[in-house]
Amino acid sequence: MPSTIHDTIDLTERISRISESSTMKVAADADRLRREGIDVIDFGAGEPDFPTPDNIKKAAIAAIDANFTKYTPSGGVIELKKAICDRHRQDYGTDYAPAECMVTVGGKHAIFNLIQALIGHGDEVVIPVPYWVTYKDVVNYAGGKCVFVPTDEASGFTFTADDIAPHITDKTRLLIINSPNNPSGAVLSREEFERIYQLAAKRGVRLMTDECYCRFLYDSEPFSIASMPGAKEHVVVAGSLSKTYSMTGWRIGFALAPKQIIDGMMKLQSHTTSNPTSVSQKAAIEALRGPQESVGIMLAEYRKRRDYVVTRLRAIAGVRIAEPKGAFYAYPNISVRFRDGITSAMQFSERLLADSHVAVVPGEAFGTNEHIRLSYAASMHDLERGLDRIERFISE
Ligand SMILES: Cc1ncc(COP(=O)(O)O)c(C=O)c1O
Repeated sequence: MPSTIHDTIDLTERISRISESSTMKVAADADRLRREGIDVIDFGAGEPDFPTPDNIKKAAIAAIDANFTKYTPSGGVIELKKAICDRHRQDYGTDYAPAECMVTVGGKHAIFNLIQALIGHGDEVVIPVPYWVTYKDVVNYAGGKCVFVPTDEASGFTFTADDIAPHITDKTRLLIINSPNNPSGAVLSREEFERIYQLAAKRGVRLMTDECYCRFLYDSEPFSIASMPGAKEHVVVAGSLSKTYSMTGWRIGFALAPKQIIDGMMKLQSHTTSNPTSVSQKAAIEALRGPQESVGIMLAEYRKRRDYVVTRLRAIAGVRIAEPKGAFYAYPNISVRFRDGITSAMQFSERLLADSHVAVVPGEAFGTNEHIRLSYAASMHDLERGLDRIERFISE
């Protein structure tokens, strides 16, 4: 058969370096089954199940009524940049100016822009495992090389500066730290985070701190490594309003970084998304400047759910799980169920969805292959039913 032009579409080499986001794929698979009328319980999505607080929604409605519906400056309106810097100062004692701040279309976009601005061909980026899916693909897209740091499951996937040090070479340009961690819920102690920062600063490596879950800590107080004296020179902050204020769909994130980096990111953003949505920016100002009670209310609810999920998982013979110290994910080791044709977390997840109709994300997405990620940002009702199904799937 002669091939048609449609058989031979040449996509760029850089597109072949990345794959579809696994978390998005799980959501699509679960959605397909749901549309077939199947009662799917979804622990795949990393998104709060709470509505966006009313004061935030009202600010957006007021923005629409006031016709604040046009282009804004590419890096966001000045009032929002100021609100981001003020919130960060108030919460963590940092000292950023609006020129060192940029508003992006979600935290993911801040990370994308930062990595495109900082990483070139052959540059090495050090990333502890398990890691959030997107880092790897974005680094690959930029032509960089991921250098993964294994961490110890028995210690809850935490790590130390000594674990990181041997992975830093002359080519290392960036170290990515995500605490609380997605997927493991691991949290670095302030002391260890400071040691890691000192190591990075000493070796001339920039440290990107992904603060997406910074306000969701169960046993310790929120802090930002950017508050260390002199840190602004070495640290770039990727932030997001998505989880903190249950605003995933509004798509507002930000970066805090030296002005030169922000200017580089801004060039890219000005040719891609232009500005983050105008109405969302007004909502974000209210989120940051308005009452903060909703954050504590969500955290208290997540804590209850975490305790329930951990207790249930530990009651299943052979399942191991370190207690998550932050964020809203559980990352159990389910290798006890590697039998009957299941030899990987990927196969486990596919069979769990097909047979028991529970959606989870396989550990391969995060760099390990004996774990699954369950998001407990789901109702207690769904957690109870879902864990019953998981227990049956593993035990039977
Ligand atoms: C670790 C981490 N960083 C950043 C993000 C980006 O979030 P968003 O783009 O929705 O602001 C997420 C979202 O799941 C995340 O888990």
